[in-house]
Amino acid sequence: MKILGISAHYHDSAAALVCDGMPVCAVQEERLSRRKNDAAFPIGAIEWCLDHAGLSPDDLDAVVFYERSMLKFERILTCVLRGFPRSWRSFPQAMKNSLGEKLWVRGVIESHLGIPKNRVLFTAHHQAHAATAFLTAPTRRAAIITADGVGEWATLTVGHGERTDRKTAITLMREIRFPHSLGMLYSTFTAYLGFAVNEGEYKVMGLAAYGQPTQVDLVRRLIRRTPDGAFALDMAYFEYHTSAKRSYSSRFVDLFGPPRNPYEPIDLNTTEGRRYADCAASVQAVLEETLVDIARALHRETGLPDLCLGGGVALNGVANARILSESGFERVFVPSAPGDAGCALGAALYADRVYFGQQERNVPDHPFWGPSVDSNELLRAATEDGQDLEQLDDAALIERTADELFAGAVVGWMEGACEFGPRALGHRSILAAPHSSQTRDRINRDIKYREEFRPFAPVVPIEAADRYFELPPGGARLARFMSAVFRVRPEWRTRLASITHVDGSARVQVLEREMAPRLSALLEAYGRRSGVPVLLNTSFNVAGEPIVCSALEGYSTFRRCGIDMLVAAPVVVTKRGHSRVKSLKEQALA
Ligand SMILES: [Fe+2]
Repeated sequence: MKILGISAHYHDSAAALVCDGMPVCAVQEERLSRRKNDAAFPIGAIEWCLDHAGLSPDDLDAVVFYERSMLKFERILTCVLRGFPRSWRSFPQAMKNSLGEKLWVRGVIESHLGIPKNRVLFTAHHQAHAATAFLTAPTRRAAIITADGVGEWATLTVGHGERTDRKTAITLMREIRFPHSLGMLYSTFTAYLGFAVNEGEYKVMGLAAYGQPTQVDLVRRLIRRTPDGAFALDMAYFEYHTSAKRSYSSRFVDLFGPPRNPYEPIDLNTTEGRRYADCAASVQAVLEETLVDIARALHRETGLPDLCLGGGVALNGVANARILSESGFERVFVPSAPGDAGCALGAALYADRVYFGQQERNVPDHPFWGPSVDSNELLRAATEDGQDLEQLDDAALIERTADELFAGAVVGWMEGACEFGPRALGHRSILAAPHSSQTRDRINRDIKYREEFRPFAPVVPIEAADRYFELPPGGARLARFMSAVFRVRPEWRTRLASITHVDGSARVQVLEREMAPRLSALLEAYGRRSGVPVLLNTSFNVAGEPIVCSALEGYSTFRRCGIDMLVAAPVVVTKRGHSRVKSLKEQALA
């Protein structure tokens, strides 16, 4: 049975293909269209998936869309009517969004792919989130929490999943409905703090580490906990349910003060700068405590040791780490793509297992479902461009790259299929030595062109992870796809300066050899030189662009920014006259 899953029209479109119960491929539209967070109908991603599998649309048994567009339209219409007359201004915008392609998904799929309407299926949005989280996790029974901004009506669900050889069931027992939403609460603060909603949430989390949660009591005024363990927002502080322009109300501004001007940089040495950081720390703390409470109650209720987390809120690694440590669950699984893009895969798996009742299969436990890198493409481009290049066997390539990293070079590292989800997990990564804060500043300045307060992530082999990071039981698993923030052991913080955040934490990727053997070998080789098998691992892109996908995009990025060396095995390209941060050895001698 061949099933295509699609997510589109809100944020980060994607397509995924499941054949005979197994994922074959999955890719976000942005990686192909090169428009960051591309929300358009993912025709490029669909074409690539079909091409990759050698299928034509006729071969598909079903196409599954990740939400019920009619229900979503009903929610928008209801909110507009409820908010009338205040909402009349947002009405044309809402109509434009919903009455366009969004509502007529069945027709759009039919006309783009020539698929008969009766082969087009729909999952509920949070069913798709739950399926992505549960059906890709190596567990047979688990509690499930999904949380995001909003799907159709649901914004948070709790439930459980069970899969046996004969049957798969995902039961979402309860849901919290729009406008009450943890995702929207966080996004409102994201907008208030001057960052782009749906994109800047991780900046809020990064900024939170610089602040103190001094405004927790104020944030708690916005969110009332209900006796049944749920929550309700006080909508007097919000406008997102009635306005397309602003998500917070003037009462919100009365409470927290004037919003930040997005065009002015945050200066943490000023009172205003610290106020923003405190504000971020406060909403982060309230998000964490609410999620931990919900998870703890679900653990009590289900008695299950495993928890699967889905939805965009599951990208909050600080909250995930607290859920693991405090809720009672022994293991917490977050997929590589918990947000809406991941729903393409979840929707296809849900249709396969639940709708069609196909036999259960274990999904491979890795995030690499996208297009593969073609080293010949790099070879051609670099040769034509007259760059210094080498072709090395694997052992020589690892040693050479480790030498360069140890000498302070910043390396663009491409291999195999690209990651599905927002994190670079070793196939489209920028790698560098982790010991120097100069490296961090240099990557921020010359490559990422981004705010100083945002930390970089490290990658470490699983065998060495405990030595450098304070991982709670189950922590290595949660860090498999960089889904959690843990503390760097104090004695290592100086030697891991470029990946240690201001509060002593890091969003670490714990690597098992079989997931990315070449990167694993590189970590070992680097460890032999520096004594510390840890590398800075950040996504291979410059600010405002999606993560690179093809070798040519990698090469073009390499040429435009301060990356010193580009690797797509067996090809290694070195930039002439590249500057290096002082190596450990040089620093020791200085
Ligand atoms: Fe969602």
